[in-house]
Amino acid sequence: MNHVMELLKSHTSVRKFTNKLVDDQLLKEIIQASQYASTSNHIQAYTIIRVKDQAKRKTLAKLSGDQPYVEECPIFLVFCADLNRLGKACSIHHEVIESSSTETFILATVDTALVAQNIMIAAESAGLGGVYIGGIRNNPQGVCDLLQIPHHVYPVFGMCLGYPEKINATKPRLPLSLILKEDTYSTDGDENHLTEYDELISNYYKVRTNNERSNTWTEGIATYLKNKQRPHMKDFLHNKGFEMK
Ligand SMILES: Cc1cc2nc3c(=O)[nH]c(=O)nc-3n(C[C@H](O)[C@H](O)[C@H](O)COP(=O)(O)O)c2cc1C
Repeated sequence: MNHVMELLKSHTSVRKFTNKLVDDQLLKEIIQASQYASTSNHIQAYTIIRVKDQAKRKTLAKLSGDQPYVEECPIFLVFCADLNRLGKACSIHHEVIESSSTETFILATVDTALVAQNIMIAAESAGLGGVYIGGIRNNPQGVCDLLQIPHHVYPVFGMCLGYPEKINATKPRLPLSLILKEDTYSTDGDENHLTEYDELISNYYKVRTNNERSNTWTEGIATYLKNKQRPHMKDFLHNKGFEMK
């Protein structure tokens, strides 16, 4: 394994940070390097908002379902999928952006996720740690009002970054046999692999939490996905101009 792969395999979300500040220049370099993420048709359909204002951070922590690290972390970034700038590019050439398709929504969302993951990896390579915050979609309109996010732009997730105070053991991932298939989508033998993985995850949580938590992966998924997640998102996105026709 080379050092990039070793870094990838050492990822674990960090939610506790030291007080050490992150140099502004370092952050800029991380983001500039990350901009080289692949991007559909070179559209670069994202905008990142760094939130420094402590009052706004406090509000964001609340809007995200009371996640204290949103307020406490040295750096908090909000990643927005952005068609607004692309609309301007079109209007320079006297065209109107056709933004109503599901495909445009996918393009912008995928571009945003790709640059964000580059930032996570680049930050980790510089000794920082972080965690994504999907919790900002608990109240996406509140986030838009707070950060003056315009039409045709939506907050996809946030990200806390900083120097880690506490690093958890890496969380085991699904075995390769479950996520990598050859030629066809075959599910033969998946049940056995899931049972083995459930045991692995249960043990991971037992060790991490001193036996306070021992749920399996499938239990966690069933608990999470038995309910409709964030049902407000459909109308929110529609009102923001992501019509998904
Ligand atoms: C899009 C996205 C949103 C997430 N939102 C949150 C969040 O709101 N709060 C949180 O504590 N972790 C959040 N996470 C972190 C995941 O829970 C974490 O990545 C996953 O459990 C795997 O653990 P690991 O990153 O430590 O390996 C999010 C991750 C992603 C990719």
